[in-house]
Amino acid sequence: MKTLTTHISLIQGDITHLEVDAIVNAANSSLMGGGGVDGAIHREGGPAILAECREIIAREGPCPTGQAVITTAGNLMAKYVIHTVGPVWQGGKNDEEGLLANAYLNSLKLAIKYDIASIAFPNISTGVYGFPKEKAAQIAINTVSQFLSGHKQIHKVFFVCFDQENYELYSKLLE
Ligand code: APR
Repeated sequence: MKTLTTHISLIQGDITHLEVDAIVNAANSSLMGGGGVDGAIHREGGPAILAECREIIAREGPCPTGQAVITTAGNLMAKYVIHTVGPVWQGGKNDEEGLLANAYLNSLKLAIKYDIASIAFPNISTGVYGFPKEKAAQIAINTVSQFLSGHKQIHKVFFVCFDQENYELYSKLLE
């Protein structure tokens, strides 16, 4: 783990192993699970997470791109899972950048609402959803840094990179 500022650390590995108040899931609008980090979270967290997602969908309908919802974390060590929906990259003409920033921002706003002091993010949209990794890393870092400067309740944010390419990009951008 690299600590890069007082409040931001970089980790290479599996987000489901972290002991933090909340981990963020790169979900889709159905909240019904999928592959990638979404699959890993539901697999490791067990059926309680999906049951809560079903209740949210029944109550509120599908989660729009850029928005976020929260559930408990089942068998995971985290207390909560914040499920956010990143944009599918479509060439950059459909406000994908703004929507990705919103996914980070709305996750952080939920964290404040639930008194979450430590939160871990995966590299939202950079897998199946195809968002260019460097652009995504810049948006993630800028959005989180800006939010932290105005919200001291969040003491620690972890960027969790699963693949080597993202890890190297974040290392470079955060130094
Ligand atoms: N821990 C941390 N990061 C992970 C893990 C894990 N266990 N598994 C995968 N990743 C990383 C990938 O390397 C990628 O950088 O998460 C990042 C996001 O990739 P995806 O999980 O594919 O998410 P995304 O691109 O946002 O696409 C979302 O994928 O599975 C579906 O249901 C999900 O439909 C949604 C779509």
